[in-house]
Amino acid sequence: MDLIQGIKERRSIRKFKADTVPQSLLEEVVEVARFAPSWKNTQIARYIVVTDKDKIAKLASPECTLGFTYNTKTMLNAPAIVLLTYKKGRSGFEKDGSFTTPKENGWEMFDAGIAAQTFCLAAHEKGLGTVIMGIFDENQVGEIIEIPEDEALGAIIPIGFPENIEVAAPPRKEVEQLLKFD
Ligand SMILES: Cc1cc2nc3c(=O)[nH]c(=O)nc-3n(C[C@H](O)[C@H](O)[C@H](O)COP(=O)(O)O)c2cc1C
Repeated sequence: MDLIQGIKERRSIRKFKADTVPQSLLEEVVEVARFAPSWKNTQIARYIVVTDKDKIAKLASPECTLGFTYNTKTMLNAPAIVLLTYKKGRSGFEKDGSFTTPKENGWEMFDAGIAAQTFCLAAHEKGLGTVIMGIFDENQVGEIIEIPEDEALGAIIPIGFPENIEVAAPPRKEVEQLLKFD
């Protein structure tokens, strides 16, 4: 798939077929996602795949979704949920633990975001649908799925084969609204 076509075609998918996603396909997606750029090539993103229905139901509970029922519906519908985590204290940090820039630890989430988009684009190319979710209670999620002490949760990404690939793109701003030359 052409890169620009892939970027433009990828949609947030919230309805999935019941088919399970083969582990090998998820490995192929991460094999691509690992080429995402990162702060000093620290490569802090990690991926935890959850397929157990009971665990997915718990992740979809109002405690975890902060009561955002839209995300509950999406998660209950997904054959797999990816927890995108990141290693803390590396991206944006000096070796002595001090921040490198005034953005402090903001670069951790920046790297997690780049990883998330790279993961979703790779998944799209392989026929999988994804949606990046930012509305969750990290502590509650940690009660259900063990997240290593030195990692934090960056995003939750339900993944599966899309029920419908013809999802219309939400409107985009025009180039003139986004770009200026100074
Ligand atoms: C950081 C971030 C957080 C998001 N959180 C959610 C979410 O909690 N639930 C959801 O359904 N979609 C979520 N989205 C998906 C956006 O709604 C979606 O990307 C946007 O509407 C554009 O649609 P598209 O991805 O199909 O182009 C999130 C996207 C990003 C980048």
